[in-house]
Amino acid sequence: MHVLVTGGAGFIGSHTVVSLLERGHRVTIADDFDNSSPKVLDRIEAITGIRPELAEVDLLDEAAFDAAFAAAKPDAVIHFAGLKAVGESAADPLRYYAHNLGSTFSLLRAMKRHDVSTLVFSSSATVYGDVQQPPYTEDGGRLDATNPYGMTKVMLERILRDIAGAESGWHIALLRYFNPIGAHESGLIGEDPSGIPNNLAPYILQVAVGRLPRLSVFGDDYPTADGTGERDYIHVVDLAEGHVAALEKLATTEGARAWNLGTGTPTSVLQMIAAFEEASGRPIPYSVGPRRAGDLPQSWADTGRAEAELGWKATRDIADMARDGWRWQEQNPRGFSD
Ligand code: UD1
Repeated sequence: MHVLVTGGAGFIGSHTVVSLLERGHRVTIADDFDNSSPKVLDRIEAITGIRPELAEVDLLDEAAFDAAFAAAKPDAVIHFAGLKAVGESAADPLRYYAHNLGSTFSLLRAMKRHDVSTLVFSSSATVYGDVQQPPYTEDGGRLDATNPYGMTKVMLERILRDIAGAESGWHIALLRYFNPIGAHESGLIGEDPSGIPNNLAPYILQVAVGRLPRLSVFGDDYPTADGTGERDYIHVVDLAEGHVAALEKLATTEGARAWNLGTGTPTSVLQMIAAFEEASGRPIPYSVGPRRAGDLPQSWADTGRAEAELGWKATRDIADMARDGWRWQEQNPRGFSD
């Protein structure tokens, strides 16, 4: 299958491109490198021996994107492109809503014009808000989000369901990611956040490599086993393989359907620190600070639907995630700027 991957140079996108190529699919990356590096293409080629095709285009430039789409003639789309920083979205909601919704509208119109009806959409466990108690099940309650970034995912899931409900022939996967971390085991691609990382694993890695002095643990008075927040961290290569499984499942699934991509296992902040200390052989200095506004005590997936319907299950554990994340960081201390 020829797959157009929007945001294919990003963290999850690049790992998914590798999995698609290894599985024998043809890939065109559509990316404007707004928050990613063109070096990713060289690295993907080094890993797989295949250079993905590239459409360097901004989805919001609808005419240019449509022309790129028409030239590529894909059979299916995996849509990663979008803005994703929670704090930034709270400070500038208009930019987030306009960008994430507008670029998806541009994509959907191109798909309709060129008769492409298979779409895998990057959603997030953030759509569960604080409505359910974990483990979260796909149909366990209404969707909600505590910030504009998350709300773009809630809205886009609804928009995609409405479209698939109104018109027959769509095949849409809504993939709700838990907390993707780690890196490809080659150490050639990984997460390269711009500025100070907001998320736990990249922050810990930058402390381990000496770019940041210490970690602040956001609260140790949660009602959890050790008092720190618990999350369902998933190895990005498992996540990438989940996309390939979902894409292949869509051949026989009409309409729009949501699947959780997680491991089903919670890990605390202190357990994460210990795992990365072990993997890196370096101490991770930390101090306990106040809770971060909007954080939940706990979040993890019910993985039953993905296992039963996609035939997919995460196989890598926290030690694997810490080892592969550290290998990437140690080999590329400044990410793709090295
Ligand atoms: C965050 C986003 C979520 C997004 C997800 C992407 C918020 C409120 N939520 O989720 O919308 O989909 O990233 O992966 O930003 N922690 C620390 N110190 C740090 C950073 C994090 O103690 O410097 C703790 C947090 O309190 C939390 C855990 O580590 O308990 C994980 O945090 P993070 O990696 O930011 O992920 P989420 O909060 O789950």
